Amino acid sequence: MKILITGANGFLGKKLSLRLLDQGHELYLLVRNRNRLNAFMDKEGEGYSRQIHILEGDVTEKNLGLNMELVKSLTGEIDAIYHGAALLSFDEKDRDRTYQVNVEGTKNVLEFSLEISCCKVFYISTAYTVGQETSGSETLYSMDRSFVNPYEASKCEAEHLVYGYSNKLETVILRPGIIIGDSKTGEADTNFGLYGFLKGVKILKKRADRRQGDKKCRIFLDPEVAQNFVPVDYVIEVLEAALFHSRNRDIFNITNPNPPRQSEILSIVKEILDFPQLQMHSLSSSDDMSNEEKAFYDSMSIFHSYFQRTIDFPTGHTERMLTSAGLPLLNMDREVLKRIIEGFLTDKARVPS
Ligand SMILES: NC(=O)c1ccc[n+]([C@@H]2O[C@H](COP(=O)([O-])OP(=O)(O)OC[C@H]3O[C@@H](n4cnc5c(N)ncnc54)[C@H](OP(=O)(O)O)[C@@H]3O)[C@@H](O)[C@H]2O)c1
Repeated sequence: MKILITGANGFLGKKLSLRLLDQGHELYLLVRNRNRLNAFMDKEGEGYSRQIHILEGDVTEKNLGLNMELVKSLTGEIDAIYHGAALLSFDEKDRDRTYQVNVEGTKNVLEFSLEISCCKVFYISTAYTVGQETSGSETLYSMDRSFVNPYEASKCEAEHLVYGYSNKLETVILRPGIIIGDSKTGEADTNFGLYGFLKGVKILKKRADRRQGDKKCRIFLDPEVAQNFVPVDYVIEVLEAALFHSRNRDIFNITNPNPPRQSEILSIVKEILDFPQLQMHSLSSSDDMSNEEKAFYDSMSIFHSYFQRTIDFPTGHTERMLTSAGLPLLNMDREVLKRIIEGFLTDKARVPS
């Protein structure tokens, strides 16, 4: 098939591209900076150059910033689009830009699909369009809810846009949980989500090592809360399966049916960093934080809402779709999680950006 991917330079986009190339598809990769992609493809995508067309563009522009000649040459040529380009900022200060990229950008991609007569669009959303609720579904969420940040709200609004085009295009919404490294190699080329937290803990460990005497260090998290981590290779598997096994208006949660609890995550981190003095305390005991503990706590403020609740994401649609593709639902055990966390903390599996 001929497939166009937006966000092809990103963490997920690169992995998705490699998988689809490996399956023999011809790809049209929309990137803002072809040099970054070239560097990656020279290393990882060797041997695929005849299957790749690089399109320099920007989703915030009409026709994704491509000139009319190029648009014409693509018309009738593309079988499907994966739209993954997005701004992943939780910062209120980035609200306008987040909406511009995530909402207007999605509208531009949908209009572009019509313009080039490509009738299939796979929108890569997020499981967290569920907002502040603790229970999700595989249906379109109402916009009439509270969101933790502009990112969640913009992705939910974009889902509504996508759904609104489903009488003109075949649209599918795919919602990953928190994407972490590869389940087999541990590799992850991202600083988002889990990796922001791990970076912070690494700094705590360095500081504790430098301290004479007491190396005790507390972080304030509820041990029972679970984090919905999904390995990137599983996400790719679901995205690929959807290409052949989904129908118009399908919505899939690409989430972990048995997400790890924060106590389990911390026990792995302690083991890998050899940091037994690291302790987890519930937030209710946070009154007597030291300056260093408070600094760590404050640096994680964008994640606080996620640290405090377990969200239940049903995966019935995804499970049925995977079954028809002959694939199992995610089963991530401690060993896999350890490999992924170790990949980051020890730099063993890390691929530099
Ligand atoms: N990572 C997660 O944990 C996670 C979880 C759930 C859902 N998702 C969704 O998965 C998708 C991919 O995320 P990711 O983790 O791969 O993020 P990422 O590494 O930040 O990749 C996002 C990509 O979007 C591109 N982009 C941003 N603005 C653009 C614009 N105006 N025009 C064209 N391209 C633009 C970026 O291009 P540049 O390289 O030029 O900056 C980047 O390559 C996103 O839709 C995200 O919402 C991610």
